Amino acid sequence: GSPETVTPTGAPTGVPAVAKGQQGAYLTTAQGARLRDTDHSLKAGPRGPTLLQDHHFREKITHFDHERIPERVVHARGAGAHGVFKAYGTATAVTRAGFLAKDHETDVFVRFSTVLGSRGSADTVRDTRGFATKFYTEEGTFDLVGNNMPVFFIQDAIKFPDIIHAGKPHPDREIPQAQSAHDTFWDFVSLHTEAQHHTMWNMSDRGIPRSYRTMEGFGVHTFRLINAAGETVLAKFHWKPRLGVHSLDWEEAQLINGIDPDFHRRDLYDAIEAGAYPEWELGIQVFPDTEEETFAGIDLLDPTKIVPEELAPVQPVGRLVLNRTPTNFFAETEQVAFHLGHLPPGIDVTNDPLLQGRLFSYVDTQLTRLGGPNFSQIPINRPHAAVNDMLRDGFHQHAVHAGVAPYRPNSLDGGNPFPAGDAEHAFLDVPVTVAQAPKVRANPASFDDHFSQARLFWLSMSLVEQEHIVRAYTFELAKCYHQAIKERQLQCLANIDPVLCAQVAAGLGLPAPQPTEPLADVAPSPALSQVGREWPAD
Ligand code: HEM
Repeated sequence: GSPETVTPTGAPTGVPAVAKGQQGAYLTTAQGARLRDTDHSLKAGPRGPTLLQDHHFREKITHFDHERIPERVVHARGAGAHGVFKAYGTATAVTRAGFLAKDHETDVFVRFSTVLGSRGSADTVRDTRGFATKFYTEEGTFDLVGNNMPVFFIQDAIKFPDIIHAGKPHPDREIPQAQSAHDTFWDFVSLHTEAQHHTMWNMSDRGIPRSYRTMEGFGVHTFRLINAAGETVLAKFHWKPRLGVHSLDWEEAQLINGIDPDFHRRDLYDAIEAGAYPEWELGIQVFPDTEEETFAGIDLLDPTKIVPEELAPVQPVGRLVLNRTPTNFFAETEQVAFHLGHLPPGIDVTNDPLLQGRLFSYVDTQLTRLGGPNFSQIPINRPHAAVNDMLRDGFHQHAVHAGVAPYRPNSLDGGNPFPAGDAEHAFLDVPVTVAQAPKVRANPASFDDHFSQARLFWLSMSLVEQEHIVRAYTFELAKCYHQAIKERQLQCLANIDPVLCAQVAAGLGLPAPQPTEPLADVAPSPALSQVGREWPAD
């Protein structure tokens, strides 16, 4: 193939920008010299030692020795696919984001993942699933880095290393917490009780999806949307699968883990290659942007809380179709780098303290994982918008930047980088007022309610879903070596629901404790049940 000539920063034409995998009809060295033999090293006679001068041998082995990069510190196990997002145009009243304008089509790449397992772990384990979408919009890349559960374990990003350490394999025995020894996980979630709501989702059927194609996705945090008039609303993102929400039964999942640990990625690739393209509808819950940042008494900055769909319907804004499997797992699925800060004009962040920490963490980890500051030049990470930045040099720099004055404004390269009209299209930081308050290491009091929404979830389940939840808590807690941890978790369950607590306690052969605080008075949200989660027929 002919070399491509475009780089993210506009190399002079004629400079090959993309290293093609295979060119020409003949096997060559990395320098393009044709090879006669790649099966025998150069030796001092047929029985002699290998010669240091054998460049082909050393090049082949050296490159192989460096084939691996670090796996992701979380979400290491995943599978991705390409697709297209087509907007309905229903969101233009609340956001100026161009990719949400009516009938606008945007290329996307989606990566699904488990959280805790290593890169080679099994697909059908009980865990949260990542659902990360890269929209290559003409106004800059938008990454919606979500999960298949709408809440998170912790309210402040500073605890993220702690919850992950509690869930990853023990440092001494390297046995994964999620599947065998469980003490640290249950120790954490029973001591940091804000984790109880997410834990309940994990213990429900949502923890073992049947297929990536039957998972909902959630942006989790509340975002701020800005329309063309500069007006703002608060919003939560939801993905609804066309096939409905379906899970595996625990016994099914165990069998599949043994028979086909690649079950979910195989299912995704097979479906796409058979033309059964998976589809999701993107929807938003929209809330007024008030000073309190609450809705119906729910703190919208608390990532352990949902807003029930009965109170704020999910309004459809567009449809995603995955229609192409990756050509190369490493180049696309492994090297893709998502980041919450990748936002197009019209979508902005809020002060959710979990979101704020994530804004730091992803780039930081990718600097190591992808070997330096230029990973946005890797093909899968390249924006489809024209890039004209002032970032220069660094490891793995592929762009050949022209000019002598990499600063703006300048009087040498003729650059005013902000020509008239840009104000209309440029990213706008919404000038939200920041409270005049003393610096503190503390949460707002509204973050103190840790049990009411776990109770809401439990009460919203059908009987069979409740039975699965009881069995999951019983099975998982039975794996703990430490009785005090089981007892502490039972105390949390007592504060969520006495029936749930009694059933799990009976399964563990332990007494059911009394609640230590009044049970929350919550109305069930039928929309939380998996039953009846099909798309309406077209
Ligand atoms: C990776 C979701 C919280 C740090 C991921 C991925 C997803 C995700 C989907 C996989 C991305 C991929 O496929 O490449 C979430 C959600 C969260 C959350 C929905 C809470 C609402 C956090 C927090 C931190 C964090 C609080 C740190 C403070 C990371 C890191 C990676 C990651 C370091 C690996 C990224 C990489 O190596 O490219 N997260 N996460 N996450 N997350 Fe999160």
